[in-house]
Amino acid sequence: MSENGDIELIPYDRMKEQVEREVLAFMEKRNLPEEIPPPRFSFEKGTAMVSFALPFLGDALVMQFIAIAKAHLGNVRIHAFDDGYYALQALNKNLFKTENLLDNFKAEFFGITANFRADFSKKGNFSQDEIALALEIFKTAYARLKDDPAVRLRRLGASIYGDSGHLDWSYIAGYEEVKRKIRESIILPLMNPEIYDSIAKMTRRSFESNRPRAILFEGGPGVGKTTIARIIAGEVKVPLVYVPIESIMSKWYGQSSQNLSQIFDACEDLGGSILFLDEIDSLAGSRDQNMFEATRRVLSVLLRRLDGFDSAASTITIGATNRKKDLDNALISRFDQAIHFPLPTARERASIFGNYARHLSEAELEVLGGSSEGLSGRNIRDICEYTERRWARKLLVKKLEASVPDFDFYRHALRGWKEENQMTDSMALEANRG
Ligand SMILES: Nc1ncnc2c1ncn2[C@@H]1O[C@H](COP(=O)(O)OP(=O)(O)OP(=O)(O)O)[C@@H](O)[C@H]1O
Ligand SMILES: [Mg+2]
Repeated sequence: MSENGDIELIPYDRMKEQVEREVLAFMEKRNLPEEIPPPRFSFEKGTAMVSFALPFLGDALVMQFIAIAKAHLGNVRIHAFDDGYYALQALNKNLFKTENLLDNFKAEFFGITANFRADFSKKGNFSQDEIALALEIFKTAYARLKDDPAVRLRRLGASIYGDSGHLDWSYIAGYEEVKRKIRESIILPLMNPEIYDSIAKMTRRSFESNRPRAILFEGGPGVGKTTIARIIAGEVKVPLVYVPIESIMSKWYGQSSQNLSQIFDACEDLGGSILFLDEIDSLAGSRDQNMFEATRRVLSVLLRRLDGFDSAASTITIGATNRKKDLDNALISRFDQAIHFPLPTARERASIFGNYARHLSEAELEVLGGSSEGLSGRNIRDICEYTERRWARKLLVKKLEASVPDFDFYRHALRGWKEENQMTDSMALEANRG
């Protein structure tokens, strides 16, 4: 005790009461979304301990904890620094005196994948400073939770897709050329960033990344742009941050440009993501005067963000548009590459039909593919759905068992669908052309 002889120690019960009170006050004030488990206390074999569940634990956070401990204790020793177990030990005032060191205040952080926890313990009772340290670490851990980039993104109107679930490349029939380009320009760099960086380090006078930062998907409606973005995210296992520009512009109203900036920041904080800006043409066409001002400012944020001075940025931006020709040239030039999604060819239409009507024969699919000129993948999916609904109605009326629609039914449905949507082949071509 001689080391701390002049410092007041807080009796266990008072310590417990103080910690509980401050934790409650913190939770009320921050209005945290998740339930926080209450702290746990023990006093065993003369050692006092308080234990907090943590929302998360990682090297960066532990570094912050060390700084806090250092500020409160003066001298600390890092006792363990492994993945999943970190321990800090307070040293004696006289650094060369090591006796009873292990009785000093100790902070331990546990957890590899879940059940993150911080334990603070000491032989005897804590000082006020040590209690303050424990509370500050607890608050720091949860303050970060509030600032979770995913939470921020959702608040800004973005959706985040993690696993694309059932979606994989086979979901998109045909489009081999598009798939090849995407593999080359997006998937490979995202999966093997080191190779790309090593090359740039050897070739560039001053290092800058040679990896793509922004790719434009352009092509008519319903040709698979959004779907493919989701498949990419699923394959490289990074979150897809989906931002439909048009709808969030009106939602944000006066604040569009700041909010777009915040979206870029939050994506960076996710530590790697694909930012999918859908319908970027909505930045181009507006003639409305109020909207015009907002659009202009959003556009300028976008131009700046895509410019990519920050070579460390880990976000890849994919912009999608139906109307490339209406886009601002300055904007187009910011994209490293534009990938064109054409309307499907007859062969591709046949295989898209094959995805939605797998029971039909090759020859039948070919006929359907041949008589659906100008239709997009989405049109074909719609036609197949329409066929199934009509077929179901027929089965119900005739009180028949479930079965698959036959080829003729698809042929009639295709014709019926075109009539209903008042489409001749050439009109379809016109409507769907990007
Ligand atoms: N090649 C294809 N194979 C199978 N299904 C397809 C194909 N192309 C499009 N589809 C179907 O069309 C649907 C719509 O595609 P998607 O939403 O990705 O199009 P988009 O290009 O983003 O259209 P928009 O420009 O209107 O946003 C997909 O969910 C899918 O069911
Ligand atoms: Mg889309």
